[in-house]
Amino acid sequence: MRPRPERVDRLPQQYFMALLSRVAAAAAEDGVPLIDLGRGNPEVGPPPHVVEALASSAARPDVHGYAPFRGLPELKEAVAARYRDVYGVALDPRREVAVVPGTKTALMEFAAVTVERGETILLPDPGYPDYFSAVALAGARAASFDGFDGPGAAALYLNFPSNPTAAAVPDGFFAEAVAWAERTRTWILHDFAYGDLVFDGRAPASFLAADGARDVGIELFSMSKTYGMAGWRLGFVVGNAELVARIELVQDHVFGGIFRPVQEAGIAALTGSQDSVEDRRAAYERRRDRALAALAGVEAQSEGTFFVWFRLPEELTVERLLDERRVAVAPGEGFGARGAGWARLSLALTDETLDAGLERLAAALAE
Ligand SMILES: Cc1ncc(COP(=O)(O)O)c(C=O)c1O
Repeated sequence: MRPRPERVDRLPQQYFMALLSRVAAAAAEDGVPLIDLGRGNPEVGPPPHVVEALASSAARPDVHGYAPFRGLPELKEAVAARYRDVYGVALDPRREVAVVPGTKTALMEFAAVTVERGETILLPDPGYPDYFSAVALAGARAASFDGFDGPGAAALYLNFPSNPTAAAVPDGFFAEAVAWAERTRTWILHDFAYGDLVFDGRAPASFLAADGARDVGIELFSMSKTYGMAGWRLGFVVGNAELVARIELVQDHVFGGIFRPVQEAGIAALTGSQDSVEDRRAAYERRRDRALAALAGVEAQSEGTFFVWFRLPEELTVERLLDERRVAVAPGEGFGARGAGWARLSLALTDETLDAGLERLAAALAE
């Protein structure tokens, strides 16, 4: 057999696959059933009118051929309307919006269209593990992002509210990012996957609301968390028209469009009642409050997302929680070296499961 090409060997171990198999192995052991607070997968799907839009579209005979490769214009208009109404950002739906099969795909495409082999991509540490996959596939080099005093690079990934730290964007941060990117000629990707899930009266904060942001980068808007459509694989790249065009060009070669009923259901989600978005956000905020109460005495934070990020007491490890308490959380070092000693728990669970898991965590912390 010929050797595997280097680009395949460079791929890091897929963090969530590894996490899942570890938790599945522990769950299969005899004893008290395991409670998994480790993985973030929306526990409630989209509202009924979205599922109905999918079903009625799929029942039509004319939707089963290839959809337009670059997405339905009405879908791009619907996301532009959301940006206008919710985030205060005016977008040209023809030039500044690309439709992607989930924003994970766009994480990879952004690196492919901005960075030459061997160049540096700055990543948040701790940060979302798939950013490392994008660096590997592009043949680039990853370095930790240390703030705006440091030098630029070919590209920078940002993510607010953050997975895993659940931090909302600090005031003025995006404006500073734009000024730095202009100065250092660095492309910016802002991953807005949890953009609508912010707590304590915060308003969702789009990167593109900062003056000049669309000159230096793009934002990824995902249907997965806002509408509970993670399995549907639908998202958007918005912002810099040149990067949107490059990503659409790559997609012309790699994908054959997105199933039209999924796009039509996306239009229904974006243009129909938005009550489910607020219901979902409020449910996570209530669960966040309960989680922080259960973690009293421990350094813990969550200003948004559906996660809580907390520091493990000295003698407590994720392995011990799994073995002795039968509760799984995501180990912080999986998100970068600076995550060591921390852990992430998910709020995307039924109230009952979360409360049972929190009870076990609180018992371990009280030891
Ligand atoms: C920070 C972050 N970015 C991107 C994604 C990918 O989202 P999508 O479902 O749009 O591919 C996720 C999914 O969990 C995420 O947590």
